[in-house]
Amino acid sequence: MREEDPIHAVRFPDGQNGWMVTRYEDAEKVLKDPRFTKDLSKIYGGSMDQMSVFTQNMLFSDPPDHKRLRGLAQKAFTPKMIAGMRDRIQEITDELLTAMEGRDQVDLIDEFAFPLPIIVICEILGVPSADRDKFRLWSNSMIEGTSGELGATVYQHMNDFVQYLGQWFATVREQPGDDLISSLIQAEEEGDYLSERELYGVITLLIIAGHETTVNLIGNTVLSLLENPKQRKILAQQPELVNQTIEESLRFNGPVEFSTSRWAGESFEFQGIELKKDDLVVVSLNSANHDRDQFAEPELFDIQREKSPHLAFGKGIHMCLGAPLARLEGEIAIASLLDRFPEMVLAVKSHELEWRPGMIVRGVKELP
Ligand code: HEM
Repeated sequence: MREEDPIHAVRFPDGQNGWMVTRYEDAEKVLKDPRFTKDLSKIYGGSMDQMSVFTQNMLFSDPPDHKRLRGLAQKAFTPKMIAGMRDRIQEITDELLTAMEGRDQVDLIDEFAFPLPIIVICEILGVPSADRDKFRLWSNSMIEGTSGELGATVYQHMNDFVQYLGQWFATVREQPGDDLISSLIQAEEEGDYLSERELYGVITLLIIAGHETTVNLIGNTVLSLLENPKQRKILAQQPELVNQTIEESLRFNGPVEFSTSRWAGESFEFQGIELKKDDLVVVSLNSANHDRDQFAEPELFDIQREKSPHLAFGKGIHMCLGAPLARLEGEIAIASLLDRFPEMVLAVKSHELEWRPGMIVRGVKELP
């Protein structure tokens, strides 16, 4: 498709007409082009009301709202703030690794790749540690809900989640701390800067992004290393290549398959295609990251690749806010895991692994 029909016409299951973009050059252009809108209210109007508690955030808004909403969360995710978390991330990693010692077999997703980013994002947000399991259930449910019909269970989980947030916000209002949630609530209380719906929307986005992505970065990187023993050996001999390994894993087996939706804000010609106003466009990030016009031998997992300007974190104004955090977690997780368990092997055949359903996240359900 990338070579023969790179901007492929698609009729989406909900009846919308749209396009799937698969080449690197086109993908980068879409992600940076302000003629595409991400503002759901411009497309769905009032019919979004039921969902808008989850979607009034930076990822589904255009400037100037985008800048305001991103700016509020940005200060917790600057490279400097994230670098300050290194020791704590190492400590959590070491505890999880110690709990796996002396066992014949573990599920690395359940015992390592999942808990690490969850504990970290919960600490950034100030979520009580006893409630982490509930967040995991709700977040999984909402992501899987995006891949099909919203079943009764998903709605129930969404309702439980909104109720939980309401109660939690009330407690924080009474006793604010120095976490991100307290500063967002303060911004909401101080006037016009952040509406209550936006407060829900931003927190929901951070919880989902913090739960559903880095787990797959860790899982997919371990899997690629297990499947490519030569690369694993190079990394064991040159541990300083760990950051390059993370970048190659993001390119080779990126945790986010597709960008979120964009719509043509007007009718215009884009790379030879006549787009009509409101046409839906999605970018296949993983396809772009395997484009041979951009990457030599893209189907090779090569941790010594010199340059890897991959699109795994997106591009343009919506480029991932959590990228410095995800990179640091990935680096610490992979380096520490290989150091502690240098002899680990996959306990099943690769083709027996089951991949998570849905169009957005790419990762295995279990990694024994
Ligand atoms: C946006 C990927 C981890 C927070 C995005 C986008 C991508 C992405 C591709 C842009 C989507 C688009 O333009 O349609 C990833 C990957 C991750 C990761 C691959 C892990 C390896 C995180 C983490 C957080 C986070 C840990 C925070 C806790 C966000 C936010 C946005 C975003 C808030 C929206 C930014 C905006 O609209 O301005 N991410 N993400 N992400 N990500 Fe991540």
